[in-house]
Amino acid sequence: MEFTFKFKVYDTLHHNHLPNYLICVIKRVLKSYIFYLGVIYLEKLVINGPTRLKGEVTISGAKNAAVAILPATLLINGICRLENLPNISDVKVYCKILETLGAKIKWITDNEIEIDTTGVTCAQAPLDMTSKFRASYYLLGSLLGRCGNAEVGLPGGCNLGARPIDQHIKAFEALGAKVDVSQGKITAKAKKLVGTSIYMDIVSVGATINTILASVLAEGTTTIDNAAKEPHIVDVANFLNTMGADIRGAGTDVIKINGVKELRCNSSYSIVPDQIEAGTFMLAAVASKGDILIKNCIPEHLDCITAKIIEIGGTVEDYGDSIRVRMNKRPNKATVKTLPYPGYPTDLQPQMGVVLATSDGTSIIHESIWESRFQYTFELNKMGAKITAQGKSAVFEGVKDLTGAPVYATDLRAGAALLIAGVIANGETQLYNIEHIDRGYENIEEKFRNLGADIKRVSEPNAKIDC
Ligand code: EPU
Repeated sequence: MEFTFKFKVYDTLHHNHLPNYLICVIKRVLKSYIFYLGVIYLEKLVINGPTRLKGEVTISGAKNAAVAILPATLLINGICRLENLPNISDVKVYCKILETLGAKIKWITDNEIEIDTTGVTCAQAPLDMTSKFRASYYLLGSLLGRCGNAEVGLPGGCNLGARPIDQHIKAFEALGAKVDVSQGKITAKAKKLVGTSIYMDIVSVGATINTILASVLAEGTTTIDNAAKEPHIVDVANFLNTMGADIRGAGTDVIKINGVKELRCNSSYSIVPDQIEAGTFMLAAVASKGDILIKNCIPEHLDCITAKIIEIGGTVEDYGDSIRVRMNKRPNKATVKTLPYPGYPTDLQPQMGVVLATSDGTSIIHESIWESRFQYTFELNKMGAKITAQGKSAVFEGVKDLTGAPVYATDLRAGAALLIAGVIANGETQLYNIEHIDRGYENIEEKFRNLGADIKRVSEPNAKIDC
């Protein structure tokens, strides 16, 4: 019997600072279990470098817009069509969750679906699926809006550190819901949702979108002050407005939502190109001293990345709906601080880390969004980088070259960064835990292969766990 085993446990053990003897015991138990199951297959990427990436790449729809727009379809009672949907595992999981709630989903192409929400009567999302999946918190706002109640598994902390949802809860309560967090789930109930003014204590993408979702069908006007301004927030608002909502000011820090009685069905919406995927390829061009034409992107969403690339010695040409990035030397040193949009995005911090790992001089990155987003630096150091990370800052003493090594993706963007590191490193890199990458990047190895990278996905039997 063959199994594809998504092997997160190994990684989790090492990043939870458990005592060595405990890690050893857990590994032994796992080892017996693995032999009991039979042959275990792990998927990994094997990358041979160095390669200067050259050619064209087409950007897919935005993951973080898709995982908000899918639950937003619950506010419609009928059929709608989504185009330019990224074909990634997060989207597939979300579709499964919607189906368990009673939605009918028809895949028209790999990137287009038709959703019929007429049969959604249940407001209890499957706890096992939702508690593992961060963006499931959008079901709270959308189910609350549709049914007046919602029950969703409590999304835990993740590899980026603590991820509280106090601002989401504060907004639901302000709109008139009673929220209870207990027994690993969040329950929200409201007889009636009534628009009000909500000031976000923290600029939060998730809380801003969730408040929009909960207030679209509420009575009266809701105002969100200190709202997040990311392109995917504008996209969620555009989707809802296309369906008949009345949301104004998305993309600024004050958003006004005039509640409507119902949304229209039978409309189509095309999801915005992924800002982070585009930025990932921009930084891949810089790191590999390559030349990439990035098609189907919105250059304005990439302004802060463009500015940094120019600062470190690269060239960026804007062609309206595509962008060409070239680099022909070692990157200059730089200081980068992650900030909410329009600042430098945290989701492109690890990819920039790879660029600065080989910069000419000493660079610094300050991470101001997540408390634990430098785990990838330990993996990069295995490849010869000289990075010292402490708390929310890391110092990158630039080295000339990286060398291939076995490395582990600790989260989605760390995975993308290590993939780029593998492309520019001398020799072979084996990249494990690639299910993280599959969550958010469509056909990633094919896209890199088309740019000249020597990269293949390998499934290997693996039951070897050494203490
Ligand atoms: N925060 C609170 N309370 C809240 C909500 C957030 O304290 O109620 C804090 C967070 O702990 C964090 C900061 O506010 O320190 C910003 O968090 P935000 O709510 O903006 O993040 P999120 O909505 O949970 C989304 C993306 C992340 C991305 C961040 C920041 C989705 C599904 N996820 O998360 O994307 O890093 O915004 O831009 O949209 C990724 O795609 O790899 C990813 C992690």
